[in-house]
Amino acid sequence: MKVTVVGAGAVGASCAEYIAIKDFASEVVLLDIKEGFAEGKAMDLMQTASLNGFDTKITGITNDYSVTANSDICVITSGIPRKPGMTREELIGINAGIVKSVSSSLIEHSPNTIIIVVSNPMDTMTYLVHKTTGLPKTRIIGMGGALDSARFKYRLAEALGAPISDVDGMVIGGHSDVGMVPLTRLATRNSVLVSEFLSEDRLNQVKEDTKVGGATLTKLLGTSAWYAPGAAVSGLVQAIACDQKKMFPCSALLEGEYGLNDICIGAPVILGKNGIEKIVEINLTDAEKEHMQTSAEGVRKTNGLLEL
Ligand code: LAC
Repeated sequence: MKVTVVGAGAVGASCAEYIAIKDFASEVVLLDIKEGFAEGKAMDLMQTASLNGFDTKITGITNDYSVTANSDICVITSGIPRKPGMTREELIGINAGIVKSVSSSLIEHSPNTIIIVVSNPMDTMTYLVHKTTGLPKTRIIGMGGALDSARFKYRLAEALGAPISDVDGMVIGGHSDVGMVPLTRLATRNSVLVSEFLSEDRLNQVKEDTKVGGATLTKLLGTSAWYAPGAAVSGLVQAIACDQKKMFPCSALLEGEYGLNDICIGAPVILGKNGIEKIVEINLTDAEKEHMQTSAEGVRKTNGLLEL
């Protein structure tokens, strides 16, 4: 199993690190445009191998896509991250050009690859890959919901005073401050609905804290987060590489599901060796459906800025 990660910045490097630590891939190629940078990150990571006990070979390369040839999975993290006060949508001008050229170079050398898009605005970048590469929709996956759900569980555990392992929950919809749809109604603590423990006000607070999860970290760090994004990507990569049939909310091309068409947006999907093996439609309340529609309108507005 060969995995390429494009972009050796904080998210790309964390992603390579978590994939390697889980030790399921034979090779991870880390590619960056900055001369020597990916090589340096790869060497540093390889020097953790004996300490962390993994055999995954990490190779760093400056912009030579031939080294990525025949990758089973390619992750695109390249582009500029947000700065404090910026929305993910404001990154579109620069990132769209980068994601378009990166995805085309990747496919040239790995025509059968599955692509995971991380660059922001993520739902729109996923749609761009869908529109410009001609890859089947099962092989284009946007990473947002897995991260947002991890942040949701963190906030739920905090509100409940419970360990995270007690908590389950999911965020669907767009990967944006206003677009996320945290499904508080369905969240559980060890199979008991969290509404048994938390007031409506507290649950609304959890919802709001989750939606601005990325912005909160950007403000604290001065740039966008990397540990949880990297861990979320590694979860998706592992589900595909190990054919786990695991369910994650991911940005997927919808064709009628949730009443939406011609859009990539977060919905629960089953991930296995073929990529997105199924889009799961769950019953939503009218309020949740309405939130999903508003979220889609926001994503469509950003999609409208693409020059396709
Ligand atoms: C975040 C970025 C990765 O939410 O979108 O941290």
